[in-house]
Amino acid sequence: MTRKMIIDTDTASDDAVALVMALQTPDIEIEAITIVAGNMPVEQASLNARYTIELCGKDVPVYDGLDRPLTRAPYRAYFFHGPDGMGGMNYPAPKLQPRQQHAVPALIETIKANPGILLVTLGPLTNVALAVAQAPEIAGMVSRCVVMGGAANTVGNITPAAEFNIWCDPEAARMVFHSGLPIEMVGWELCRGEANLSEADMRYCREVINTPLSHFAIDCNATAIQANQQWLGDPALALPDPVTMAVAIDPTICTRSSRHYVEVECDGIFTRGMTVVDQQGVAANIQDPSVAVWEQIVRRGSPNATVCWEIDIPRWKALLYQTLQ
Ligand code: BDR
Ligand code: CA
Repeated sequence: MTRKMIIDTDTASDDAVALVMALQTPDIEIEAITIVAGNMPVEQASLNARYTIELCGKDVPVYDGLDRPLTRAPYRAYFFHGPDGMGGMNYPAPKLQPRQQHAVPALIETIKANPGILLVTLGPLTNVALAVAQAPEIAGMVSRCVVMGGAANTVGNITPAAEFNIWCDPEAARMVFHSGLPIEMVGWELCRGEANLSEADMRYCREVINTPLSHFAIDCNATAIQANQQWLGDPALALPDPVTMAVAIDPTICTRSSRHYVEVECDGIFTRGMTVVDQQGVAANIQDPSVAVWEQIVRRGSPNATVCWEIDIPRWKALLYQTLQ
């Protein structure tokens, strides 16, 4: 039986590999790919997504969405993914064109037409926030909403406190985390260190798998490999969006998870976009009625997300390799 999926993405190099994984998984039927600004402006992200779809020999509807966060100035990750988001590879323009419809109504209609669909988010949550604001009922029609975003009570990658996708549009993230969507949070901390593709892993992709897709996966990440080292001091290639896609395709790749109340910091000077996970369940005990926001939290203190704490690294890589054949 096939499983239906929608992917919301700010397509740059690691998003592209995640798209390949979904496109190459035989029992996944992608109903829509919606594009959001983040790593790249929407126009470039859309080109990157459509190029990737064509490379896989597929034809999937692509809908362009919001080109900036709800209230914040846009911030692009050229420094990390290269001027085109694809390691400066200057891939040719795809023939596949985006649909006329905007991503937000496309998300709403696609979810309504496919109750039980799986939603995977690989970028800032701007499109998804507007979709649930306009049609709150869609939150209950999604079977799983697997989010690449946040850092569960640990350090961030764009600031010491925050992960890029949530930091870009924290107001949108807060709306989504409070929308009732069945969120599974895959934080940045799961996608670094041993989860990275090492030099040997990348050699395996090139020399042993040795397909157009396995070369593409490494080539388009040329800038990301360098930036990961220079910016984060993390060796080799980090692939946050593909790790998230692996969990979306095979939930058992997340080997430890638990449900928590998760809040997104929108006001902090140093903590903008921080994902505050109520790991010990203390939010419901806070007694400070003079502070309106805590009253809200006490009211809202029940779990709103499943936080993934651990992944099976060999199995995530095995799934990646399988889809690059
Ligand atoms: C996230 O930020 C982007 O640069 C990546 O595509 C990924 O979605 C990691 O923090
Ligand atoms: Ca992304």
